[in-house]
Amino acid sequence: MATDLHDLLRSLRVWDPATTELPPFDPAAAPAEPLALFTEWFAQAVAAGQPEPHTMSLATADADGTPDVRIVMLHGADADGWAFATHSGSHKGRQLAARPYAALAFYWSAQGRQVRLRGPVTAAPVPEGQADLHARSTGALAAALTGRQSDPLGSVEELARASDAAWERARREPDAPVPSWTLYRLRPERMEFFQGDAKRRHVRLVYRRTEGAWAKELLWP
Ligand SMILES: Cc1cc2nc3c(=O)[nH]c(=O)nc-3n(C[C@H](O)[C@H](O)[C@H](O)COP(=O)(O)O)c2cc1C
Repeated sequence: MATDLHDLLRSLRVWDPATTELPPFDPAAAPAEPLALFTEWFAQAVAAGQPEPHTMSLATADADGTPDVRIVMLHGADADGWAFATHSGSHKGRQLAARPYAALAFYWSAQGRQVRLRGPVTAAPVPEGQADLHARSTGALAAALTGRQSDPLGSVEELARASDAAWERARREPDAPVPSWTLYRLRPERMEFFQGDAKRRHVRLVYRRTEGAWAKELLWP
């Protein structure tokens, strides 16, 4: 049976009360800096059963400004920025080398929440990036060892052979170095917290980094 995409789209809603509880959000009571609010919202997303709250969209741009976006995992967030890891030779790695500026977006559907941030990106020192990789799962190391991310692939058999060898090495050598694997940090200049509201009076609270402190403002939804 053929499915009509547009019929299907029209049948869908966001924030179904059966699965979503839109919490109240009072921006006047929000902390003075965004890391504290992010940490609070992240813990609440986990508690609300949000699947994979640590996945996020990472937007970068080519040297000519053409945008690109994909999902990556959040490795940490602190005063130095929001951390993610990837291969320096991948599309995104090369984009970041040419234009070290990016944006991240989280969507936590269980609570109708979105968090967006943008700012300059820097690569962490190599030993820190390698230590971060070696603290992760064998599968993460095997994936990193497989390498050649974003290169054209000749066949799925070629990937299977490279992956088998990478898994074998990851099990045998849990500290195997992966020179191209890089930990990056995005230091936000601007960060927005969006709380969806059933009556569409969504709350948008923006933090803007200024000299020595964060400025806060509300935006029309
Ligand atoms: C849930 C999920 C998590 C992912 N996490 C990462 C990650 O942490 N690092 C990474 O390099 N790729 C990750 N990927 C793969 C990327 O989305 C992307 O396919 C890959 O990094 C190549 O992107 P690029 O060609 O734009 O460089 C993840 C994909 C999914 C669906």
